Amino acid sequence: MISRRILTLALLLAPNWASPTATSPSMLPPTVASSSTDIAAVQVNQLARSALNLALDIVINNTTSQESGGCTMEKLRVRRDWRAFSRAQKRAYIESVLCLTHLPSSTPAKDARGAKNRYDDFVAVHIVKSDFVHRTGAFLSWHRYFVHGFEQTLRNECGYTGDFPYWNWGADTEDMTKSEVFDGSDTSLSGNGAFIPNQPDISVDMAGYPRLNFTAGTGGGCMTSGPFQDYTVDMGPSTLSMPGGNVSSMSNPLDYNPRCLKRSLTTSILQRYANYTAIAQLILNYHDIWDFETVLQGVPGSGLGVHGGGHYAMGGDPGRDMDVSPADPAFWHHHGMIDRVWWIWQHLDLDDRQQAISGTGTFMNQPPSPNTTLDTMVDLGLAVRGAPVAMRELMSTTAGPFCYVYL
Ligand SMILES: *[C@@H]1O[C@H](CO)[C@@H](O)[C@H](O)[C@H]1NC(C)=O
Ligand SMILES: *[C@@H]1O[C@H](CO)[C@@H](O)[C@H](O)[C@H]1NC(C)=O
Ligand SMILES: *[C@@H]1O[C@H](CO)[C@@H](O)[C@H](O)[C@H]1NC(C)=O
Ligand SMILES: *[C@@H]1O[C@H](CO)[C@@H](O)[C@H](O)[C@H]1NC(C)=O
Ligand SMILES: *[C@@H]1O[C@H](CO)[C@@H](O)[C@H](O)[C@H]1NC(C)=O
Ligand SMILES: *[C@@H]1O[C@H](CO)[C@@H](O)[C@H](O)[C@H]1NC(C)=O
Repeated sequence: MISRRILTLALLLAPNWASPTATSPSMLPPTVASSSTDIAAVQVNQLARSALNLALDIVINNTTSQESGGCTMEKLRVRRDWRAFSRAQKRAYIESVLCLTHLPSSTPAKDARGAKNRYDDFVAVHIVKSDFVHRTGAFLSWHRYFVHGFEQTLRNECGYTGDFPYWNWGADTEDMTKSEVFDGSDTSLSGNGAFIPNQPDISVDMAGYPRLNFTAGTGGGCMTSGPFQDYTVDMGPSTLSMPGGNVSSMSNPLDYNPRCLKRSLTTSILQRYANYTAIAQLILNYHDIWDFETVLQGVPGSGLGVHGGGHYAMGGDPGRDMDVSPADPAFWHHHGMIDRVWWIWQHLDLDDRQQAISGTGTFMNQPPSPNTTLDTMVDLGLAVRGAPVAMRELMSTTAGPFCYVYL
């Protein structure tokens, strides 16, 4: 079995892709997160490799899938760290995202007046669904489906043929401006915003819990370089945290409000919430789905978690806007990593974790709503093609609508 698996892994690594740096698959994965971020980095790699081995076994063994046209090794896609992409591969991904911004919107103006292009269709959906897909039972699975819908649209409408990326937060906690995702080069998603001096702190107010205050970061203004310098954010703001503690919102965030993409890279936030130790702790310390997803999204009043940490570390507008955040093209890299962390966590105990759901259908259960179950139907909505599916279809990345693994 082992040799068959290693053989198939080699097949996944097409020659033009860099090999992963994970350790030997025979090593036992760790059970306790190291407080050394260097060791924790190796641990996260080991956990990911162990998840990959199991996921490949399941695909190889699944005869039903082979007979029914489901997910097979031939169809399986690999999602990769942006740092494993070559220059040409990065450019191909970036071009396909820019392509979406040049295609017409499919959303009728009556549904979202501000949706001006195909990329905006995704932003509009996220604004409309926001209160039902954050701090609800569907947070992880809905976003898995949403990112997949974006990936499919890049492939079907912009001819993208490469692998889908993720942003490996832990690699960038020394200095976000040197991140391959955010360094401002033509192979990044553009970088920092122009520096705006003397900005007061950001203050995150969540539903009456104690506020969390953070520095406003190292930028704040429009992109100064890179592929997204001329890109426009067309909708929102909706729930945008402003320096000084106010929240900026339009009366209708779906209205047209074109403006530049702003960032304020904040390494200190990424370092505090999304370093390798934080990632390893999240994966290893929480055994119950409620605990896992709550810590991942940030325990209200006490932290941002890796999810909020990544968004607030990008900063700016819409990086600090829960509803409009997909309008920052780095959203997809960030949520690729969120999905990867969930995928690793699930594979540590598939029997108990693959189908585990906790939470209701409304943001922090306000207003109160029924528990989300495997039978709860979710969809992407508006003009984003994602048919209604039962939650149970979204729990495995190698079944239902999905056929991918992470390296
Ligand atoms: C896959 O099949 C092999 C051979 O029958 C078996 O040893 C292995 O445990 C199976 N793996 C999984 C994950 O079911
Ligand atoms: C096997 O494949 C079928 C069809 O794609 C799928 O419904 C099922 O969930 C898969 N089983 C596992 C264990 O992944
Ligand atoms: C916050 O909003 C209030 C009320 O609109 C305004 O008076 C105040 O100046 C704003 N503070 C900042 C820092 O923008
Ligand atoms: C956080 O910032 C808000 C808004 O500027 C301020 O009112 C509050 O006192 C700050 N809290 C702490 C703990 O510094
Ligand atoms: C790494 O993350 C953990 C968990 O969020 C945090 O307690 C720790 O202080 C962070 N380390 C650094 C160097 O910021
Ligand atoms: C909803 O889930 C919570 C937490 O798991 C549980 O305590 C509660 O009994 C569930 N409610 C219903 C109506 O099933």
